[in-house]
Amino acid sequence: MSKIHEHWTSRLGFIMATAGSAIGLGSLWRFPYVAGENGGGAFVLLYLFFTFIIGLPVFIGELVLGRYSQKSALLTYYELSNNSPNWKGLGWLNVFSCLLILSYYSVVAGWCLSYVVMSLNKFYVGLDAEAIKQVFNTLYTSPGINLFWFGLFLLINMGIVFSGVRKGIEHWSKILMPALFVSLMALFCYALTLPGFSKAVAFTFVPDFTKLNASSVLNALGMAFFSLSVGLGIIVTYGSYMNKKDNIPYNGTLIAFMTVLVSLISALTIFPIVFSFGFPPEAGPGLVFQTLPVLFAKLPASILLSTLFFSLLFFAALTSTISLLETIVANMLDLFEMKRETATIIATILTFVVGIPSALSGSDILFPTWKAIYGKNFFDTVNYLTASWFMPFGGLLVTLFLGWRLNKEIPLQEFGLGTKTQYLAKPWFFMLRWVVPVAVGIIIIQETGLFNFAHLFKK
Ligand code: PFF
Repeated sequence: MSKIHEHWTSRLGFIMATAGSAIGLGSLWRFPYVAGENGGGAFVLLYLFFTFIIGLPVFIGELVLGRYSQKSALLTYYELSNNSPNWKGLGWLNVFSCLLILSYYSVVAGWCLSYVVMSLNKFYVGLDAEAIKQVFNTLYTSPGINLFWFGLFLLINMGIVFSGVRKGIEHWSKILMPALFVSLMALFCYALTLPGFSKAVAFTFVPDFTKLNASSVLNALGMAFFSLSVGLGIIVTYGSYMNKKDNIPYNGTLIAFMTVLVSLISALTIFPIVFSFGFPPEAGPGLVFQTLPVLFAKLPASILLSTLFFSLLFFAALTSTISLLETIVANMLDLFEMKRETATIIATILTFVVGIPSALSGSDILFPTWKAIYGKNFFDTVNYLTASWFMPFGGLLVTLFLGWRLNKEIPLQEFGLGTKTQYLAKPWFFMLRWVVPVAVGIIIIQETGLFNFAHLFKK
């Protein structure tokens, strides 16, 4: 039985689906609070720098690799390395990382879904800030409720991936992404009218380099990687659905621009609200679930704003998790003789099982001593392992594969197909071969503790 490898029906479909993978909770939830914790403007500038200098070459590299091989990550590395089991191992690392990220990311996405329903119920009415915080804690520590929303979110995700690249992913991305842009713009217009807007602009754009240290430099690099979804074979998979006439450097750059734009607009939407009500911008991960509802409660049209905001988070999470599930499914289809529907159901069940300890992390009923042993609860452990280790490591290996393992004519030629800017191929390849591995190598060395680059900044 020959397998049919689907392709995007249109450029718009590809852009919506791939931007959908990139734009997610990373841009809307993580970026504002991490920028807030790292002093604002200077961090934002670094994030922009790393996105375009480090993240974008890898992003383009993954697209080039996928379109050339017309396979998902595992078989791409295996076949293009003359069947080396070691490079196949990189494919397995990618699939395993996607499974782990999907398992905890869907728990957060489940909270977003829960907050949509809670917003429609106006859960914050009559509650003070402390009580609103408590609502989140109650949700976080309720095993059954966490499992319910996590499972429901996975089922929605499964329903979309089930229908395939065109009818599922592309179709839904073309609906969800415009919905996301419109909701974000509506909230942004509201933020424009708030007294804290100019303070938010200054906080986001005026750099104060004294607030930077080595760890914020590394955070900015990690943020750039996470938000472009690179280092996991996802962009390889989405690249394999591209047509040869598509312009990879142009489309890749456009998607990177869209991603940073959404991150910036979301910071400029959240910070004016935070500043107008005198909250600290470095409130941490609870910013969205614990702080913003306090503010929504005080605003006119609160039900509308709050429901819109959490729906926005839900849409953004969904288009990102689709890409994670699709990558697992696509690899399974390449490896095993099975139907897409069967692969999707198996991958979803597997994700649910792997995610159960994350969904139950707040209630401590599954591994009550996990935190005492590992220093972080199960959810935080998986989050940390994937974002700080597996993604940078996957990113480093894919650049080494493209820059050093493959015959360099392959990436150079594939880059040039469908574009008039072939002259950019060589500078891009130079970045991939030298600059990116060194920069990512630095993050990994810092994480291992072999050398603390913070010492270089201290006199
Ligand atoms: N890029 C997504 C975000 O910023 O939320 C998160 C993500 C999706 C990371 C898919 C990794 C990934 F493979």
